[in-house]
Amino acid sequence: MKQLNSEQLRSLYLEFFKNHGHSVIQSASLIPENDPTVLFTTAGMHPLVPYLLGEKHPEGTRLTDVQKCVRTGDIDEVGDNSHCTFFEMLGNWSLGDYFKKEAISWSYEFLTSEKYLGIPVEKLAVSVFAGDETAPRDEESAAIWEGCGIPKDAIFFLPRANNWWGPAGITGPCGPDTEMFIDTGKPKCCDTCSPACDCGKYLEIWNDVFMQYFKNAEGGFEPLKQKNVDTGMGLERTLCILTGKNSVYETDLFTAARAKIEELTGKSYGESAEVTKAFRIILDHMRTATFMLGDRKGITPSNVDQGYVLRRIIRRAVRFGRQIDLPEGSLGEISSCYIEKYATVYPELVENREKILTELKKEEDKFSKTLKSGLKEFERTISRLQGTVIDGVTAFRLYDTFGFPVEITEELAKEKGLTVDTEGFKACFAEHQAKSAAGSEQRFKCGLADNQEGTTRLHTATHLLHAALRKILSPDCAQRGSNITPERLRFDFNFGRPMTKEEISAVEDYVNEAIAANVPVDLAEMTVEEAKAQGAIGLFESKYGEKVKVYTIGTYSKEICGGPHASNTGELGKFVITKEQSSSSGVRRIKAELRYE
Ligand code: SER
Repeated sequence: MKQLNSEQLRSLYLEFFKNHGHSVIQSASLIPENDPTVLFTTAGMHPLVPYLLGEKHPEGTRLTDVQKCVRTGDIDEVGDNSHCTFFEMLGNWSLGDYFKKEAISWSYEFLTSEKYLGIPVEKLAVSVFAGDETAPRDEESAAIWEGCGIPKDAIFFLPRANNWWGPAGITGPCGPDTEMFIDTGKPKCCDTCSPACDCGKYLEIWNDVFMQYFKNAEGGFEPLKQKNVDTGMGLERTLCILTGKNSVYETDLFTAARAKIEELTGKSYGESAEVTKAFRIILDHMRTATFMLGDRKGITPSNVDQGYVLRRIIRRAVRFGRQIDLPEGSLGEISSCYIEKYATVYPELVENREKILTELKKEEDKFSKTLKSGLKEFERTISRLQGTVIDGVTAFRLYDTFGFPVEITEELAKEKGLTVDTEGFKACFAEHQAKSAAGSEQRFKCGLADNQEGTTRLHTATHLLHAALRKILSPDCAQRGSNITPERLRFDFNFGRPMTKEEISAVEDYVNEAIAANVPVDLAEMTVEEAKAQGAIGLFESKYGEKVKVYTIGTYSKEICGGPHASNTGELGKFVITKEQSSSSGVRRIKAELRYE
């Protein structure tokens, strides 16, 4: 495999596709123009949606680029080897031009040719769509891969959860895909080990999507006017794999910023797990903040939408900075390393240098003033806490008075084995908002007070999941955390071992049975004692005699909760668990979606 640096990988990719008749286009802004359902550009195809739908692109029907992207869904996993909130995606597109044959053959050539990545064919594995009611089994792609030289046993047919991509937001173009993996040579983890496994044997490197469908607002799939190809290769991850590094943070993209943090703190990256995690969080978050502030449609920290996400990541970087003695006021020095590193590819960072540095300083100053007293307040709270849940009023005070984004409070709580009553926080937030004159203008995204239909339905699905886990695994299973975006739910619960495949299916079946039963979701207000007497589950943190809301879903679930919920389970799509993994010791994490097809 070639030992490439980031500059070489970008240019090789663009050169390859240019030689195959593609026009090289500029990266679009991080702020999407065409999709009000997401806050940031999350993939290379995102700015190209109108053209995938049939509009004519001025540069023709074959395009290639390097697109800056932000995905914050897994922000709390940043700190491990591979998660980043900002990343670059190398991509090539056919807008109704070539299709599977060319896309796959070129992917193969780029990956294996000595002139390009030079990956030995025996180190490659691919997956193709196994087929379902929306689209057929992709024998065609499998045959093309075989024709290229990929042996049959390195071609895996996988279901929709693995081999279907999109849409980027709630609606938009999507389709089956074929993904490419490096086989690390590790032994198979089990008989059915495949690229769908996250055991670490297979590392994903590239994705070719055959974009032929449009998912509409009702959740239906309509054929697109034209058949497109959309491919995406993560720059950081590919560099990491090619250079044999342990983590994306060890690639050349981060070298200067990492050395700067070492110089500023006197600590070494890698000296302990805790220090490494703090380094990675600061490295990631400062890079993302630099790109958000330096974007041509640049944003500034605020309490809503994109500005809120930016505020949250800067403040999180400040908090982890304190842990490794990063001197106050030094975020700008780290950011400057990125401005230099990316200057030729993203000149907007250089053009906006002053703005980036000024805004970082302002936000850091603001938060530094309250961080110390907020942390004291947090410590005081937990020293008095009875039980394991920090109430919404306290979380709201930390937010309102001390500038702690609720996610920071949740993270601090988690470090102490506690949780936060986010429903209670939302209620306080909503109350405060109603009182505030400017409140009517405000929106609070990122899963907070987000009453979009998709989120509400996933909330109802979360109750069903909670009930299913107690029924199928153990009546002792209880919620340890929950986070819902319009696309997926994430649910943490106590359980001491990985779930088996059979248990996962049984849980899915239980939830889908409740959905098929088309039962109403009933709301009743009662005292905590009445709720308990009726066998409701949920957090019994309210005081004696206090009224709580109880949501009942037929005979399937009864749970104390602030809502809102779908009015009938029939509104929910098909419930699919996409991941079951460890969250922390004794706590498992499930990610699941509702699919409408
Ligand atoms: N849109 C696909 C992805 O994000 C391919 O670019 O993986």
